[in-house]
Amino acid sequence: MEVIIRKDGQTAALLTARIIAKALRMKPSLVLGLATGRTMESVYGFLAEAHEKEGLDFSLCRTFNLDEYVGLLPGNKHSYRAYMNTHLFKKVNIDLRNTHVPDGMAKDLDLECRGYEEAMRDCGGIDLQLLGIGRSGHVGFNEPLSAFYSRTRVTPLTPETVAQNAPLFGNPKLMPRRAITMGVGTIMESKRCIMLATGSEKAEVLAKAVEGPVTSMVSASVLQFHAQCTVIVDEDAAANLQEKDYYRNVFKTEPQWKEFH
Ligand code: GLP
Repeated sequence: MEVIIRKDGQTAALLTARIIAKALRMKPSLVLGLATGRTMESVYGFLAEAHEKEGLDFSLCRTFNLDEYVGLLPGNKHSYRAYMNTHLFKKVNIDLRNTHVPDGMAKDLDLECRGYEEAMRDCGGIDLQLLGIGRSGHVGFNEPLSAFYSRTRVTPLTPETVAQNAPLFGNPKLMPRRAITMGVGTIMESKRCIMLATGSEKAEVLAKAVEGPVTSMVSASVLQFHAQCTVIVDEDAAANLQEKDYYRNVFKTEPQWKEFH
């Protein structure tokens, strides 16, 4: 795992977008794992800008979203499908048939989850997985005690997650209590992970995930076992990290990061 600290949320999101853009330029048929949430909105904003101003080409890119609420129609403005269409897909030249978000309205949800795993396999697996972190330590919607080997499945949301996301629904009662999510095992199979966390409300859980013991009580901590995981944070989210000087030095001196300074 490597940690990069940027001064604020915008520069952290910009760096994340530039890494994704570079990966897409190197492999136009990139299989991209995508995340939702407030943190990601700026990342998608920067990617849309790169498409508009620099011609960043999404025409061959395939995408798989981490999760979707159960019981929301794709057209519902609170669904993650709608989020993705609004923030990224409609702003770039991606073929919508190459974009995948689990169907939270599927009649047979277990079949939907198995089919989702199969579709990822058919594409050769995820090349680059973008991740946020919830206050419960979740990645995707892998709440505490999600098995390290879990696969795409339906999962109940914790009260903490409901409290975190319900404000987005206006009326909290409208927020679904269950979701489909890629499993921890699914995420761990991606070739590369980038986790982005910004803002002081993430400081406590981020320190647990990055520097704490690996435990299924904090699903994101399992990323410490991932062979290529980059964690990008702003100063606020980095507040509780112990090894900040070391992380800063690595970013400043390692040749692979030079082009991103
Ligand atoms: C949701 C998503 C997660 C995301 C998290 C953080 O719960 N399922 O994938 O990481 O929100 O959201 P935010 O960026 O709004 O803090």
